Amino acid sequence: MIEFPKKFLWGAATSSYQVEGNNIHSDWWHWEREGKIKYHSAEACRHYQFYKEDFRLAKDLNHNAHRLSIEWSRLEPEEGKFSSEAIAHYKQVIAVLRECNIEPIVTLHHFTLPNWLMRKGGWHKKKSVFYFLRYAQKIVEELSPSVNYWLTINEPFVYIYYAYIQGDWPPQKRSFFKAYAVMRNMGCAHIKTYNLIRQIYKTNKLNLPLISIAHNMQSFSACSPKLENKLAVYLRKNVFNLYFIEELVKFKSLDFIGVNYYSRNTADVKTPWLKSLFLDNCRDNCGGLKKNSMGWDIYPEGLYDVLMQVKKYNLPVMVTENGICTNDDSQRWDFIREHLINLHRAIKDGVNVTGYLYWSLLDNFEWDKGFAPRFGLIEIDYLTFARKIRKSAQSYAQVCKTGRLDGYE
Ligand code: BGC
Repeated sequence: MIEFPKKFLWGAATSSYQVEGNNIHSDWWHWEREGKIKYHSAEACRHYQFYKEDFRLAKDLNHNAHRLSIEWSRLEPEEGKFSSEAIAHYKQVIAVLRECNIEPIVTLHHFTLPNWLMRKGGWHKKKSVFYFLRYAQKIVEELSPSVNYWLTINEPFVYIYYAYIQGDWPPQKRSFFKAYAVMRNMGCAHIKTYNLIRQIYKTNKLNLPLISIAHNMQSFSACSPKLENKLAVYLRKNVFNLYFIEELVKFKSLDFIGVNYYSRNTADVKTPWLKSLFLDNCRDNCGGLKKNSMGWDIYPEGLYDVLMQVKKYNLPVMVTENGICTNDDSQRWDFIREHLINLHRAIKDGVNVTGYLYWSLLDNFEWDKGFAPRFGLIEIDYLTFARKIRKSAQSYAQVCKTGRLDGYE
């Protein structure tokens, strides 16, 4: 039998734009309306309306934690003007989670920006740090008495890659220089927000919360043992997985490390150029792994690998996202179970893992891929907005209840 630590956080994650619906002041909304993105988020899961029902379902599934994000564009639909209705809404969201005995883990930025800020240039402009801090101050002051966990920014490198290198997400730029500026600004925004949040809690004589980012990590391997591939693995691991964390650790601005893990990445470098070293991937099905419905390799051992990579920082680690999109729900429980087995191996080998949040509680709007990929423990019927608990959710609920995986070593 596999037993997890006593106070382990068990639950799922969501992000505002992907589930709430009608985020009409967001940059994504405008991009969709202008036809720059193929799909429309529209009403998404109507979670803005149905959050109480959704959290009660999470409670019934024995979740004791839930990760959500605040939609900045709802809070500050116009520059400098904060919406009291949105503030009241998110206060209520947190209150309902507390009523359900579910620990809220709150993300401040999950890929979307208010449209007014995007029109001003977004994250690559230095002033974005000032805007982010002003927004963070507002919402943290309001929610601080009820929140013990904050995540400032979700997956900075994923955002930078899709928005500034590949150019698929707003602002659809392809510029290494802008990408670099975004990384600097996000790093700076995190460090300043970390200090700001602690200051707010101290001023209000509250117990200090735990603050981090949610960092996407992949398990990197070489497609063949040639030198360029090995060099690529070394570079990718140190740049994509560890560089940002290392910087934040240096500035003492992480109380734990939030790790999002989905898949592995196999380097198959075609040319000796830097771009190839970072971006050329194996096109064959290296190792013959099963895949999710978006074609990502399913590689549970990789969770062990990335958790062991961050062991050296001597900080608690929380798996803030891990999940599969699939049309075959039996694959989902296999996925969760195998990842939990690997998470437990990392605990046995000395990593202080404090929680596991499956992505996602609900099927949701998968950005530029629309609604087709199904990640949810709970199925959404997008015509009626009915919720249906999947079988995999029931199996996971057993683990959430007992803290054990019976029948496994
Ligand atoms: C993101 C989510 C996304 C998920 C699946 C993560 O990188 O934080 O917003 O839905 O991956 O692609």
